[in-house]
Amino acid sequence: MEVVIKSGYEEISRAGAKVVADVLNTKPNAVLGLATGSTPLGLYKELIRMHKEEGLDFSRVTTFNLDEYVGLRIDHPQSYHHFMHENFFKHVNISSQNIYVPSGSTNNYKAFCEWYEERIKEAGGIDIQILGIGSDGHIAFNEPTSSLSSRTRLKTLAKPTIDDNARFFEDRNEVPIYAITMGVGTILEARQLLLLANGKSKAEAIAASVEGPVTSIYTASALQLHPSSIVFIDDDAASDLKMRDYYDWIQEKKPGAPQT
Ligand code: GLP
Repeated sequence: MEVVIKSGYEEISRAGAKVVADVLNTKPNAVLGLATGSTPLGLYKELIRMHKEEGLDFSRVTTFNLDEYVGLRIDHPQSYHHFMHENFFKHVNISSQNIYVPSGSTNNYKAFCEWYEERIKEAGGIDIQILGIGSDGHIAFNEPTSSLSSRTRLKTLAKPTIDDNARFFEDRNEVPIYAITMGVGTILEARQLLLLANGKSKAEAIAASVEGPVTSIYTASALQLHPSSIVFIDDDAASDLKMRDYYDWIQEKKPGAPQT
């Protein structure tokens, strides 16, 4: 796992977007795994800027989103379908038939989850998966004790996650209790993982996931098992890390390393 600490949100967003753009520039028909939440908004904004100003092309790209609430219509302002459309898809030249977001309103969740996994396989697997992190250390909606080999499935959300999400809803009773989410095992199959985090509220989860043991209590700790994962965090999110000097040293010395 590569841990890169930047001075602020803008910097992690720009660095994250650059990694995604590099993938697209070497593989124009790349398969992107996308995340929702406030964290990746800056990264999406930067990708949109690159599309508009530098011609970054999404016409051959396929995307798979990590998760969706159960019970919200796709046009509900808090549905992840709506979020992705408003904050990313409608601003770039992605083809609507290449967009996959889990359904939160199917009448057969089990069959849908199997279908979703099949689509990922059929697309050739995910080239790069963007991730945020919940304050309890979850990735996607893989709440504490989610199996590290779990696949796409229906999950009951943990109370802290429901509390975190309540800020987006007018009425607390409207906050969904269930979600459909890619599993940790599904996520680990992506060729590259890119996790972004900013702010003090993520510091404990980041420290546990980066420096703690691999555990289903913090599902983001599963990134330690992945051969190519990078974590971009700001100073606040890095504030509970014990080995900060080491991560900074590695970044400082990286440009001088032999390339072959
Ligand atoms: C939800 C999403 C996660 C996201 C997390 C953090 O739980 N399912 O994918 O990482 O929120 O959200 P934020 O980036 O708003 O802190």
